[in-house]
Amino acid sequence: MNSKNVYILGIESSCDDTSASILCNGKVLSNIIASQKIHELYGGVVPELASRAHQQNIVPVIDQAIKQAGIDKSTISAIAFTKGPGLMGSLLVGTSFAKSLALALDIPLIDVDHMQAHILAHFIDEEGQEKPNFPFLAMTISGGHTQIVIVKDYFDMEIIGETIDDAVGEAFDKSAKILGLPYPGGPLIDKHAQSGNPKAFPFTKPRVDGLNFSFSGLKTAVLYFVQKQVKENPDFITENLDDVCASIQYTIINILIDKLKKASKETGIKTIAIGGGVSANSGIRKALKEGEYKYGWKTFIPKFEYTTDNAAMIAMVGQLKYEIKEFTDMSVIAQARTKF
Ligand code: KG4
Ligand code: ZN
Repeated sequence: MNSKNVYILGIESSCDDTSASILCNGKVLSNIIASQKIHELYGGVVPELASRAHQQNIVPVIDQAIKQAGIDKSTISAIAFTKGPGLMGSLLVGTSFAKSLALALDIPLIDVDHMQAHILAHFIDEEGQEKPNFPFLAMTISGGHTQIVIVKDYFDMEIIGETIDDAVGEAFDKSAKILGLPYPGGPLIDKHAQSGNPKAFPFTKPRVDGLNFSFSGLKTAVLYFVQKQVKENPDFITENLDDVCASIQYTIINILIDKLKKASKETGIKTIAIGGGVSANSGIRKALKEGEYKYGWKTFIPKFEYTTDNAAMIAMVGQLKYEIKEFTDMSVIAQARTKF
C-alpha cells in the first residue's frame, strides 16, 4: 500500500441523516446514508427521535462505509465529524462516537462545520467534474439553511446573506403541508410544478433589505390563499394542484435568483456554486443555467448525493484540514450554532 495515501473517515449526524464515508486523497470510496423515515409520520424532524435513530444507525453505517471502501479500520488516517450547526442531541451522537474511535485507533480527530462542508463538497474528486475557482459565491439552500457566502479560499469564507426566519426548504415543505402533501414536500412541489403554470397564482415576494432572505410571509400567503379558495370550491386543491405548486416554486426561485443577482453585482463575482437539498429542484437548476447566458455566470451544482446531508462532504473537509494539519483534541464539544 502507498504510505502517502490519506484515508479519511467522515461522520455526519447533524439532523436526520446518519452518514459515514471513506475518502482516499479526496476520492469517495464509500458514502453510506441512513435516512430516518420515522419523521414522515410527524410532518417534520422530531429531535428526540432523531438522536435515538442516530444511536441505532451509527455503528452499522460506519461499519458498512469501511467495508464498502474495501479497507481495514487500521488504515484510516484521521476521523472528521460534524461539530455543528445542527440538533444538539443528533450532533452529540456523531461527536462522541468520533472521539472514542479516534482515541481507540490513536489517530487525529478533525472537527467540521456542516455549512462549510456543504460548500467544500464542490471539491470532492469526481471524474469529469470541474471545481470552482476562488473567489466564488456559494448559495446553500436546504431544509435548515439559506445562505449566500463569499468563498475566498477553502477556509476563508464570509456570510453575506441569510434567512431571517424560515429556511427555503421549510418554505417548500410547509407549503406542501398546506396542500396536503406528505413530508418532505419539496420534491413533490417540484414534481407537480413541472406540469403547472407558474404564473397562474401570483404570490408577492417579501421585501428584505440587502442580501438576506425571508420565507415565513410566503408560507402565510399560501395558507390564506388556499383557505379562501377551498371555502369557495372544496375541490380547489385537487383541481389546481399543478398550477399552485408551479406558482409557489416560481416565487421561491425568483426570490433566490434575485438575491444571487444582487450578490453577484455587488461583489463582481460571477462564479456561483449551490448546495443543500433544495439544489435538487429542477426550477433552480434551470434558472442557474439561464444565468450563464443571461448574466455571464459560471455555475456549479454538485452530484445529488453530495448536495443533501452526507458524510462525503464532511470527509472532504477532513482531507483539506488533514493537509494543513488542523486537528482538534478530546476537549472538543458539539455546538448547535456555529459561526465561521
Ligand atoms: O440538505 P437536506 O437534505 O437536509 C437539510 O435540511 O439539511 O435538504 C432537505 C430539504 C427539504 O426541505 C426538502 O423538501 C428539500 O430539501 N428538497 C427539495 C427538493 N429536493 C429536496 N425542495 C424542492 N425541490 C426539490 N426537488
Ligand atoms: Zn445540511
